[in-house]
Amino acid sequence: MSGASPRLSPALNVVVSAVRKAGRRLLRDFGEVEQLQVQSKAPGDFVSEADMRAERTLREDLSRARPGFAFLMEESGASGDKDWEWRWVVDPLDGTTNFLHGIPHWAISVGIEKRTGEGKSEVVAGVIYNPAADELFWAEKGMGAFLNDRRLRVSGRRDMTQALFATGIPFAAVPRKGEFVQTLARLMPQVSGIRRFGSAALDLAWLAAGRYDGFWELGLNKWDIAAGLVIVREAGGYASSPDGGDAYAEGNVVAANPHLHPRLREAVSEGIAAVAARRPEGA
Ligand code: IPD
Ligand code: CA
Ligand code: CA
Repeated sequence: MSGASPRLSPALNVVVSAVRKAGRRLLRDFGEVEQLQVQSKAPGDFVSEADMRAERTLREDLSRARPGFAFLMEESGASGDKDWEWRWVVDPLDGTTNFLHGIPHWAISVGIEKRTGEGKSEVVAGVIYNPAADELFWAEKGMGAFLNDRRLRVSGRRDMTQALFATGIPFAAVPRKGEFVQTLARLMPQVSGIRRFGSAALDLAWLAAGRYDGFWELGLNKWDIAAGLVIVREAGGYASSPDGGDAYAEGNVVAANPHLHPRLREAVSEGIAAVAARRPEGA
């Protein structure tokens, strides 16, 4: 898709231009990755000049187009009116570890969140852009999900032995390693494959595109999943937390095609329960 598409709402058009521009700069940085300054936020968790620059240009472009919208951004946190009605939820570079290792699997993710009542909100649209592949995944609630100009639909696979799942493996800085190991042990013998490609946003986008049949990861942040969840749902997929709750609020995601969602949810819940059962009471 280039420029304005008749299907894009004005707010999505703003996002598409902003991510394309930030994506061009990220691609340039990716070509000279060894020259970037990199800082460690926590053990195994890095942020580079490229992440910061992308976040700055996205903020400038988005706020110029919609001055009243608030922000939730990975590197700078929440900003703008705290009684916001609309806000941008932005991961300027999802897959930083891949980026820094020269692996072309990373993306910009922007969700548009609307406050719907006291303490309640909903993500109504999202864009995930992979500049290296020039793949733009986008969706708007009630309008369907798209990859560039093509309508997306999750896979129709029903059989676990044919299923390909994606996940995020906990690394040094993040907890819940035991739950991951327990879930993996349950799923491995049942499925066709499990992938860890290193970008939660693209994992969700690829699920929407029918490339994966399901995805799970615990302990994600809103900027990792805002856009991806709406894209998955608009492509006909199901997304919840492991116990069937709100994946966006909890940051714990089980998403899959409708046939396999119950099976994946069961395996993740059992993995979590297995760890809880070993924990001393009150811990
Ligand atoms: C990370 C990626 C990764 C996921 C991590 C995220 P970042 O985001 O989405 O796939 O496993 O939990 O933090 O740090 O590259 O933006
Ligand atoms: Ca991220
Ligand atoms: Ca990031």
